Amino acid sequence: MDNVFVSNHALILHKLTKLRDVATEPKKFRELIRELSILLAYEATQDLRLDPTSVTTPMGKAQGYQLTEKVGLIPVLRAGLGMVEGIWEMMPGAEVWHIGLYRDERTLHPVSYYNKLPVEPTVQVCLVLDPMLATGGTAVETINILKKWGAKNIKYIGIIAAPEGVAALSQAHPDVPIYVAAVDSHLNEIGYIVPGLGDAGDRQFGTA
Ligand code: URA
Repeated sequence: MDNVFVSNHALILHKLTKLRDVATEPKKFRELIRELSILLAYEATQDLRLDPTSVTTPMGKAQGYQLTEKVGLIPVLRAGLGMVEGIWEMMPGAEVWHIGLYRDERTLHPVSYYNKLPVEPTVQVCLVLDPMLATGGTAVETINILKKWGAKNIKYIGIIAAPEGVAALSQAHPDVPIYVAAVDSHLNEIGYIVPGLGDAGDRQFGTA
């Protein structure tokens, strides 16, 4: 699928392996989520629009560039929260809009419980942050909400995807590129990615 970007960057592969490890404790797990998010966002934002500008150095004038588009970070509560901070440090001018969706454990369908988006879009580029692209239901619904809001340029950044999630998201939103560190084997009968890393929310927040 040409809208899926699976990084094979050495740092990402190294950190992903530590993230998956069942022995990795919540503090280290949160650090790794933060670092992987920065690296994946670096890949996802390489085509952000720039305006040319000039800058005065101690030695004279140099050609420069400045970002022209306002970026929105959209973490999906709660597992997406750990992805915000590092990316925000790279883009301090970004706005952060939270969307709360949980997956009904019985139906596996997303249920919305928090959304405070303003009436009109305030950003030109939306980065949806959710580490695990499992069934794809939550991602599809989040992007439905953003498109109804009026968002035009949306990108999904996750850490691990299942093929089922990639297929569902690509089918529902073929215009949304997907950036992940890995696409794993499959989903199990209760909707967890195999081999995955377990529950990304529990492992970040120590609630397993
Ligand atoms: N959410 C998780 O946290 N892990 C999975 O494997 C699937 C969904």
